[in-house]
Amino acid sequence: MMKEELLQKTTTHFEVRFNAPPQAIFLSPGRINIIGEHVDYNDGFVLPAAIDKYICFAITSLETDECVLVAEDLDEEYSFSLTDELIPVKPMWANFILGGLHQLKQKGLKLKGFQLVFSSTIPIGAGLSSSAALECGLIYAMNNLFSLELSKQTIALMGQQTSHSFVGVKCGIMDQFACVFGKKDSALKLDCTSLDYSYFDADLGSYSLLLLDSHVKHEHLTSGYNVRREEVETGLNIIKVQYPEVSSFRSCTLSQVNSLRKELGENLFKRCSFVVKEIQRVNEAAYSIQNKDYKTLGKLMLETHDGLSRDYEVSCEELDFLVNKASAVPGVLGARMMGGGFGGCSINLVRKKSIDPLIENLSAAYFEKFKIDLSAYQIQISDGIHQVK
Ligand code: GLA
Repeated sequence: MMKEELLQKTTTHFEVRFNAPPQAIFLSPGRINIIGEHVDYNDGFVLPAAIDKYICFAITSLETDECVLVAEDLDEEYSFSLTDELIPVKPMWANFILGGLHQLKQKGLKLKGFQLVFSSTIPIGAGLSSSAALECGLIYAMNNLFSLELSKQTIALMGQQTSHSFVGVKCGIMDQFACVFGKKDSALKLDCTSLDYSYFDADLGSYSLLLLDSHVKHEHLTSGYNVRREEVETGLNIIKVQYPEVSSFRSCTLSQVNSLRKELGENLFKRCSFVVKEIQRVNEAAYSIQNKDYKTLGKLMLETHDGLSRDYEVSCEELDFLVNKASAVPGVLGARMMGGGFGGCSINLVRKKSIDPLIENLSAAYFEKFKIDLSAYQIQISDGIHQVK
């Protein structure tokens, strides 16, 4: 479904449900990440971008404290009053919204009730961050509707906080940042420690980025993700005892990690090596893109996958299969699982001419092996959250 269709559909649904056109419409995008996985919460750098898959918010403010949320795609509604104590509730999707409202209330900001219909073209559980799009979209809409004067950075950080406190995933800042700060045809290089960022041209010449959706829903993401966070935190503390000059993974070298293999134990050793190597790879990848050296970029992506699969252990059989098969197809320079892992999409760096043969080749092989239909998304890099006039 295209953007126009999504806008039309959401607006119409709003009009039918609330008997009037919405006061405002917002689009909040999903994201890709070129490279830099599981390093946003490890003081690394990441290279994400917003894409042309969105959650559309149609919204009207009220004079009362009543809030009506309509999840059009799920055909579900949830109503409450702003004066209620806002705590996590049963319909999971509502928490992505309640978490933001809770924080706004805590900040003492003046809100009113509202009627909201939202609908999405970001596939759920595909690792394209529909969560961040929902969290940040809501806060952005409130900011706009009630003139709260929150900065873009604050919106991103509050979105992340929603995941932490109302969803239960101790995520980093990458997804929310990309959703808010995304820019058409540009990827971001984000320093996850300082939150400094720069844009760079994401034009990859005769190559493009193709997503292949394994359709394995990342159900273990929450637990698996939080466990990884604890593991690397423990690992870093062990490293710091031996090397007090190390303040974060960014200032840690691979030889330091190697020297502590015994102290760390095999599991933490693998996790920590991955992080240190991945932080290094992002710098190399940024340099390769600048120099239009796509071969090196592809090689780095493959190394990332290998690390995510063997050392960080957040891949799955289906994703390994897709990456493996893709990398053997002529015209494919790189492939790797993308996002938190345990399912979702792979991201592939493919010569434009080879996209169709790749999809054909892999769809057949994937179905034969797993009896799952593969989906391919040819995404465009797009603007971050914005109001549609
Ligand atoms: C999820 C999290 C991000 C990031 C990625 C892995 O998408 O929300 O913060 O950690 O996983 O890179």
